[in-house]
Amino acid sequence: MVAVAILAAGRGTRMKSDLPKVLHSLGGRSLVECALNSCLLVNPKKRLVIVGYQAERVKQALTHFDKIEFVEQTEQLGTGHAIQQLLPHLEGYTGDLLVLNGDVPLLRPETLEKLIATHKEHQNAATLLTAQLPNPQGYGRVFCDGKNRVKQIVEHRDCTDAQKQNRRVNAGVYCFNWEKLATVLPKLEAENDQQEYYLTDVVKYLKPVMAVDVEDYREITGINDRKQLAAAHDILQMRVKDAWMAAGVTMIDPDSITIDDTVQLEADVILEPQTHLRGNTVIASGSRIGPGSLIENSRIAENVTVLYSVVTDSEVEAGTRIGPYAHLRGHVKVGEACRIGNFVELKKTTLGQKTNVAHLSYLGDATLGSGVNIGAGTITANYDGVNKHPTHIGNNSKTGSNSVLVAPVSLGESVTIAAGSIITEDVPDRALAIARSRQSIKKGWRLKNK
Ligand code: UD1
Ligand code: MG
Repeated sequence: MVAVAILAAGRGTRMKSDLPKVLHSLGGRSLVECALNSCLLVNPKKRLVIVGYQAERVKQALTHFDKIEFVEQTEQLGTGHAIQQLLPHLEGYTGDLLVLNGDVPLLRPETLEKLIATHKEHQNAATLLTAQLPNPQGYGRVFCDGKNRVKQIVEHRDCTDAQKQNRRVNAGVYCFNWEKLATVLPKLEAENDQQEYYLTDVVKYLKPVMAVDVEDYREITGINDRKQLAAAHDILQMRVKDAWMAAGVTMIDPDSITIDDTVQLEADVILEPQTHLRGNTVIASGSRIGPGSLIENSRIAENVTVLYSVVTDSEVEAGTRIGPYAHLRGHVKVGEACRIGNFVELKKTTLGQKTNVAHLSYLGDATLGSGVNIGAGTITANYDGVNKHPTHIGNNSKTGSNSVLVAPVSLGESVTIAAGSIITEDVPDRALAIARSRQSIKKGWRLKNK
């Protein structure tokens, strides 16, 4: 039986940010979400998140996780003090407690599974994850005997120069026998450089405590400042991109591409340079994205191309071509085999199949049928300064260049709008609407004036 506790009450002073450290994001998730996700395989009986600094904001960010118990640490007096707050919440609990620092986001679920297995196998009082770091600066150093039994953990700032030479660091990931931990938690003292109650000091009172080295030290990267956040970003990007390439995604110049950990791709997607995929984006097989495109929270079906364009909160069906230089600004649904061309902006707009908006248009709050052709420079005037109004365009209709459709307005099926028209009234099926002044010719006009 395992319960999980995540330490997320600290401010994260070294981030120099108004945002609590654990809410800084990495690959599309907050750091604390990453920590929670790393427990997926552990299947915990209880999930406790210790909150303190801007507690409401942290709780709010986790509302989509169910079965989380929040524990308040009103004053942040150290990681040991944080765990002391669990005492009333885990009264009578007899299982193990997995403790994770909320600022260690790259742990693999398999690593935690293994840590717990080792802990149980050896019936340890505590088992902690360690790593040999090439640059251990800032981490607590772990001192063991020849059998990996932990004697002491000393924080970087409390280390002597000789102790700093030890590259074996504490990952901030522990499995405890809760009953044993609970009896020693009250013994912690704040006798250190920071005058904080350190969780790491419990190893002095517990026996046996075992250290287990992680296979890949990059997994335990802790985030204390922006530089470490950037380093973690690089590690995660490499991990995410390697996995998608192994699954059949082509990347041209992968170093210039970024993909959130939350994105889903199919085999035979091609990603061109300078492409960025964010949030809950899903891209189907055969689609080619980029160069120079940003897709956020959007679903792209098969064989779509998106060239130098931005697509946000939208859906694009199979075979459609987007760009160069198009902007799908949100709540846009584009049907199959459409064309959205250069300098076209779409917002809250639905297009049927084989509909083209090929050049220099803005369509907002509009519904277009299938086989529609929107002429260059057509604009929906959807906003009267106070309210937004809808535009409807029926199947197989065409608008001439530089038409303005003043909403609310509805064009029937197979309508034709003459170029340069300003349409303020509904147009019935199959009609031609011309709404501009007629051209007049004054013959010999220049001569007469002279
Ligand atoms: C901690 C460890 C260090 C380890 C490192 C790994 C201690 C004393 N030190 O140091 O040995 O190498 O993590 O990354 O534990 N927090 C609270 N309440 C508090 C203080 C902190 O909830 O009162 C939370 C923070 O929000 C953070 C986590 O605990 O998520 C770790 O705190 P942090 O200050 O980052 O500890 P480190 O100095 O990194
Ligand atoms: Mg830290």
